[in-house]
Amino acid sequence: MIRERIEELRRQLDYHNHRYYVENAPEISDFEFDAMMHELQRLEAEHPEYADPTSPTMRVGSDLCAEFRTVRHRYPMLSLGNTYSTDELHEFIERIEREVGPTDYVCELKFDGTAISLTYEHGRLTQAVTRGDGVAGDDVTANVRTIRSVPLRLRGEGWPELFEIRGEILMPYASFDRLNAEREANGEPLFANPRNAAAGTLKQQASSVVARRGLDCTLYQLAGDQLPFTSHWESLRKAREWGFKVSEHMRICHNAAEIDAFIAHWDEARRSLPFPTDGVVIKVNDFALRRQLGFTAKAPKWAVAYKFKAEQALTRLESVSFQVGRTGAITPVANLDPVLLAGTTVRRATLHNAEQMALLDIRPGDMVYVEKGGEIIPKITGVELAKRPADSRPFEYITHCPVCHTPLVRYEGEAKHYCPNQSGCRPQIIGRILHFIRRKALDIEGLGEETVELLYDNGLVHDIADLYDLKAEQLAPLPRLGEKSAENIIRSIRRSTEVPFRRVLFGLGIRFVGETTAKYLADHFRSLEAVMQASREELVEADEVGEKIADAILEYFTDAENRRIIERLHRAGLQFEASARELASEALAGRSFVVSGRFSRSREEMKELIEQHGGRNLSAVSGNVDFLVAGEKMGPEKRKKAEKLGIRILSEEEFLRMLETGAEPQVKAPAAEVPSAAPAQQTIGESAADTSEPRQGELF
Ligand code: IVH
Repeated sequence: MIRERIEELRRQLDYHNHRYYVENAPEISDFEFDAMMHELQRLEAEHPEYADPTSPTMRVGSDLCAEFRTVRHRYPMLSLGNTYSTDELHEFIERIEREVGPTDYVCELKFDGTAISLTYEHGRLTQAVTRGDGVAGDDVTANVRTIRSVPLRLRGEGWPELFEIRGEILMPYASFDRLNAEREANGEPLFANPRNAAAGTLKQQASSVVARRGLDCTLYQLAGDQLPFTSHWESLRKAREWGFKVSEHMRICHNAAEIDAFIAHWDEARRSLPFPTDGVVIKVNDFALRRQLGFTAKAPKWAVAYKFKAEQALTRLESVSFQVGRTGAITPVANLDPVLLAGTTVRRATLHNAEQMALLDIRPGDMVYVEKGGEIIPKITGVELAKRPADSRPFEYITHCPVCHTPLVRYEGEAKHYCPNQSGCRPQIIGRILHFIRRKALDIEGLGEETVELLYDNGLVHDIADLYDLKAEQLAPLPRLGEKSAENIIRSIRRSTEVPFRRVLFGLGIRFVGETTAKYLADHFRSLEAVMQASREELVEADEVGEKIADAILEYFTDAENRRIIERLHRAGLQFEASARELASEALAGRSFVVSGRFSRSREEMKELIEQHGGRNLSAVSGNVDFLVAGEKMGPEKRKKAEKLGIRILSEEEFLRMLETGAEPQVKAPAAEVPSAAPAQQTIGESAADTSEPRQGELF
């Protein structure tokens, strides 16, 4: 019974997942999907004997750290010959036709991500390996499983028992923008383009991080010993039937003119695609002819990549300004004579750092080339020297902070200059306070950028610890505030002393310590004191902490000013310790909850509260549940079921009171221990790929 239900849910979820992520045509609501997913999660948790690495529940990933195994490819992952010129492309076609006569070509987009090879055995995904050096790559199976458009089990029929399919892991622009916005807010280095972001994400050690980053995967090439096809087109059509995401934007072309037209179309049309592309790949369609054409040492002779030229514009560099970030990092920014580029007007471009500027010998007044590759911020790639004004002089990089005039410094291994005046440089101080009060950090409401500037300029705050000395009487007279807002701000500041340790650690704004790293540090060290006392060697033992992060942490805590601030924050009562699993209290320890309906705070916050106080969240009402916290508009079915099972139903107020008082509610005994919801990652057995020599001639 249970087993059938689990199988049915897996089938349904796979189907709807495919409708949503591959076909872009969902049939059910997110809510219905989530409900099925929760049911499956619960059943799998209750019945670990039915665990399956290809279950849709595996897509949420795990916090376990992966060490990537190096795996030899069964068939080498070759690269493609590249060209930017139509003449060279025509030569390629002429050469093919000289050897095998007129033939058909499949034209596809060249996706700008990172290459992946997926192995399917008996219709199930068993391995995902990066390109690596083409002969061997990293086993990133656990991470790839979290990508919703990658089928974990195949649909339809006719797939070979064992085959590989290759494609590109992509980060759509929307995911990329979201990720970088988050990183910027955390003071983490930004990814330069979606390609780097996709590759970097795939090498993430915790698959749960990968699961949240919105990667996509498009497949474009099959490999196997006995593929039952005679052409590429046919193989991809079948692959699509088996559930793979295969691009719609492909065409069979019969001659150079048709290929040229395909390229011309996509050179323009690619701008409206939601993911990055950097060219067109032209492949001989017929597998028999491919075998006849063969390979060079590096690439097949039956395919070539035509690369689009990056979009460029020429404009005048009016001036250079300098931004000071919250960490003191200086970024030179080009102010340009506005110019139209790839559909938007560009006024500013990044100049990265002093070295980059010197390398290009960029000078104000120059005519410069601006490019917009996959990059978020346009960049300057060159100078038109022929148009340089006669009186031009080399640009002298600033030596002092543009705001506080402190001499700038360089750190070893870093290209940027820094203003070291952490405690006296306005944009750094304001930036740090704004970071500290963010929702994901101390979550202090009522204080926006303008108010923080106001507080600083009126001498009321100089550092994050000053916030805790503020009094409503000091705030009320300030412009735009008044008594009510002043009191709200003070209340919000006071409430922030309850924010759990990991968010306090994140809020300190230590370089490179983003939200996730802070969580790992808090989990590992449990208290700020332990983090402060940790050596470099001890720091890198925490998940996701490398040497660079370790050094930044050491540097932060060596600073006397930082230590003083921490001392004051400690006195103000901030959480500097994680109790058992970062617990705020043990009031709910050993009890299981289902939260349903609407509350004055979000359901996520309600669940977090439960966890912070030692309780456990379950997704569905069952015999294992102790309390149902019922909000507005909760479905009557749930209530009925809970009543039938004798589960205590709490209103939001009752629940909050229970948190505060820790009062023992009168209910049945705590439920027996249930295995944690996420099944452990299964290790994939050794495969033939580890030992066998790659066989170049057997790509098809
Ligand atoms: S076919 C043996 N098709 O471009 C040839 N590659 O420069 C296998 N790429 O490593 C590759 N889109 O990562 C092929 N439609 C496409 C592609 C594509 C992007 C990438 C791939 C490959 C690189 C070669």
